[in-house]
Amino acid sequence: MKKILVTGGCGYIGSHTIVDLIQNGFEVISVDNNSRSKATILEGVEKTTGVKVKNYTVDLCIFDDTHAIFQENPDIAGIIHFAAYKAVGESVENPLLYFENNLNSLINILKCASEFSIPHFVFSSSCTVYGNPTEIPVTETTVLKEAESAYGYTKQMGEQIVQQTVIATNIQSVLLRYFNPVGAHPSNNIGEIPVGPPANLVPAITQTAIGKLPQMTVHGNDYPTKDGSCVRDYIHVCDIAHAHTLALNYLIEKRNSSNCDIFNLGSGNGHSVLEVIRTFEKVAERKLNYTIGPRRPGDVVAIFANNEKARTVLGWAPKYSLEEMMQTAWNWELKLNRDENLFATKNATLN
Ligand code: WQD
Repeated sequence: MKKILVTGGCGYIGSHTIVDLIQNGFEVISVDNNSRSKATILEGVEKTTGVKVKNYTVDLCIFDDTHAIFQENPDIAGIIHFAAYKAVGESVENPLLYFENNLNSLINILKCASEFSIPHFVFSSSCTVYGNPTEIPVTETTVLKEAESAYGYTKQMGEQIVQQTVIATNIQSVLLRYFNPVGAHPSNNIGEIPVGPPANLVPAITQTAIGKLPQMTVHGNDYPTKDGSCVRDYIHVCDIAHAHTLALNYLIEKRNSSNCDIFNLGSGNGHSVLEVIRTFEKVAERKLNYTIGPRRPGDVVAIFANNEKARTVLGWAPKYSLEEMMQTAWNWELKLNRDENLFATKNATLN
């Protein structure tokens, strides 16, 4: 059984990918300092797979602590690197936090991958590398424009760091450019747990709908799009997760055509913010309390993927619809709310 190191394994996409890896015969260890995640998510992974995954609570920006993980695990056969900050708006307000965290952690993990001759490396990239594309849908050969946020720059630079590193080493890599991951595992044992107020659209919707937030704000409806709100390519987190297993097997089976292949992971469909809200309202059978506010700095107007390459080369076939993305996200929010109420009740009876 090949052992895979998943960085950011307690995160949203990381935890869903760990489930898919285990269900496809891999052994997994996680490293996550839980600065933006909760280690309890691995209980949900265990509930779903029956496997207790070890997490190293290590900050990957600290080289010696990162190096120690590889010394303790000489049988690591591959790395999937998720660990990074990913809120576009926050990165505009605090760029140095993003450059320091996202790049130092990547450099340290690549140093170790090189020193310990880890053969396979999957990098969590993002559609934000395309900037504001003039032509959509974007393909993997679409020329990258200026990023619109520090987050986007860290992914553009991250891709270059990986590309240059694999040229100088024997590491074989894949760059996966996610579009907008949303939804939750159908088991409802794992899902997105935003730490602090949600920056992303779907958790903002579900937290508003459940009453955790009084109201959500649509960041602008004066864009040159069908209804004035931004267009994105929403893709179920389980579809994204499975693409990582496919990418790893693509490398292990030496089917890769270069030492740094790139794939778009999007549904291939563009939906506006207001369309997502309408779809949620239909699924949750309730009206959402939202207001129209100003544009958010760093937002691109519209982007969605041409995903033909991942379909034909990786054999990837995204299967969840936008309705199912909203339904699983809502089911997860309802569960979080039940768990929090249960915890509050238990606490009340104990005090
Ligand atoms: C989507 C749209 C907002 C919140 C994300 C990830 C990033 C990358 C790409 C993986 C925008 C609008 C949001 C709210 C709103 N994925 N919005 N009100 O910025 O596209 O980036 O996907 O790497 O990591 O963060 O996603 O969900 O923040 O925004 O109107 O309360 O929803 O303005 O138009 P984004 P998002």
